[in-house]
Amino acid sequence: MCMLSTRPLLWGIMTKISMQELDIFPSDRQPTVRIMAMPANTNPIGKVFGGWIMAQMDVAGGIVALEYSGGPVVTVAVTSMEFHKPVQVGDLVSCFARIQKVGSTSITVKVEVFSQRAHDGMLKATKVTEAVIIYVSVNSDGIPRKLPERETNFGYYW
Ligand SMILES: CC(C)(COP(=O)(O)OP(=O)(O)OC[C@H]1O[C@@H](n2cnc3c(N)ncnc32)[C@H](O)[C@@H]1OP(=O)(O)O)[C@@H](O)C(=O)NCCC(=O)NCCS
Repeated sequence: MCMLSTRPLLWGIMTKISMQELDIFPSDRQPTVRIMAMPANTNPIGKVFGGWIMAQMDVAGGIVALEYSGGPVVTVAVTSMEFHKPVQVGDLVSCFARIQKVGSTSITVKVEVFSQRAHDGMLKATKVTEAVIIYVSVNSDGIPRKLPERETNFGYYW
């Protein structure tokens, strides 16, 4: 009887599938920020600086939160942040932001970042980073302001 475990094989298949799913560019959604990574945005080893990507993500999430709030928002917390793959100079960076939860004054936004690298007439997409960012709607004095009521499908195009 063969005593070999099938676990490594299954794990290999599952990892491959989940990595492929990670890399499917969401063509049915609208990126909130789309920008090309430039040489000025690199770290000392020539990859794109993580802080630059985080700034794009904060802007992307902030735009969605501002549209919902109908007024200014401030970033209060980043509850998760994962860098899956590096970004290179010349990559097209697209930040997709979607509201996960709305509280009395806070808006929780999931931001997913894809890079698209041009090669041989094709654009190869890779999911590079994702984060969950919380914004608070504030008045002009920076005091939390109650969010307006919105329809459940508000901002469906994000
Ligand atoms: C954001 C800020 C206005 C909140 O003020 P506050 O007095 O803590 O307000 P509250 O305690 O009433 O909290 C307001 C909301 O934020 C949420 N919140 C506050 N701190 C949080 C944290 N660390 N993590 C997650 N949510 C938080 C609360 O749960 C509440 O949500 P809800 O109204 O939907 O229930 C204040 O902390 C602030 O000005 N922070 C600095 C923001 C900033 O400068 N950001 C960087 C530049 S944009």
